[in-house]
Amino acid sequence: QSVAVLGAPFSRGQKRGGVEHGPKVIREAGLIERLSGLDYSVHDFGDLSFQHLEKDEPYMDVKFPRSVGAANKMLSGAASRAVGAGHTLVMLGGDHSLAIGSVSGHAQQCPDLCLIWVDAHADINTPMTSPSGNLHGQPVSFMLKELTDKIPAIPGFSWMKPFLSSRDLVYIGLRDVDPGERNILKDLGIQYFTMRDIDRMGIQRVMEMTFDHLMARKQRPIHLSFDIDAFDPSLAPATGTPVNGGLTYREGMYITEEIHNTGLLSAMDLVEVNPELGANREAVEATASLAVNVIASSLGQTREGAHVSIDEIP
Ligand code: ARG
Ligand code: MN
Ligand code: MN
Ligand code: MN
Repeated sequence: QSVAVLGAPFSRGQKRGGVEHGPKVIREAGLIERLSGLDYSVHDFGDLSFQHLEKDEPYMDVKFPRSVGAANKMLSGAASRAVGAGHTLVMLGGDHSLAIGSVSGHAQQCPDLCLIWVDAHADINTPMTSPSGNLHGQPVSFMLKELTDKIPAIPGFSWMKPFLSSRDLVYIGLRDVDPGERNILKDLGIQYFTMRDIDRMGIQRVMEMTFDHLMARKQRPIHLSFDIDAFDPSLAPATGTPVNGGLTYREGMYITEEIHNTGLLSAMDLVEVNPELGANREAVEATASLAVNVIASSLGQTREGAHVSIDEIP
């Protein structure tokens, strides 16, 4: 069992500085040690180094299209190589536009993957529906085959083709969905669970329905894309677009434990940790250590404690 950790210090999918330091603070919160303690061989591939484009004019309203396109092209290749080498990939963002690269690279190796998107936001705006022009609010629209005709040819994105079917995607934690996004979710019949659904049904039923939906026909590799802003801002304050009323710590751990228990997790993203937005050092450290807990729990850390064989008990 081996894990590849890959940092993606990138922030041009949105306008606030600091989210490029996410990989650094997540590592400083002890990620590598925690994963090694779970009996994985951990390969830290370090951070990608993205080239800085001096000139990157908006295309229509879309901000930094060439920078986001080029960074994701590089990430896609690296993700594909890591998964192809047999590792479970952990991608540390950076902003959520990076999911374009990590999921597409993963899909090159595992074309039948399914995607679980844990987030306050649906990130499924198209360049036309986006109220902000920020590409971190749009990555899913670039992946979906059903939206091919809705995505204009943006500079920087000619390398990628849509590769995911809308039935192979489930959202958990939504509570800030733009009008155009809601139309897309409804039109395509995408399975999503808002915070209201979690209030009504409980997280256990939500996870059951998630796996029923995704694995109905057969078992397939899972890509987990986890935006730290899925959590309540009281737990994850250091992030760019916090929304009140988010996941509790226990709901977050239950989601990731259940994903681990499928035995099907093949790659994950942990994005949107922005150490420059915490009110103080404690706020930043709490957010980063929550990120480490999400990753460790996805990879088998349990609240019940590790299993040891009876022979090993003194
Ligand atoms: N829906 C808003 C937008 O399109 C916010 C997106 C926030 N995305 C994120 N990855 N935090 O701009
Ligand atoms: Mn900085
Ligand atoms: Mn979000
Ligand atoms: Mn997001």
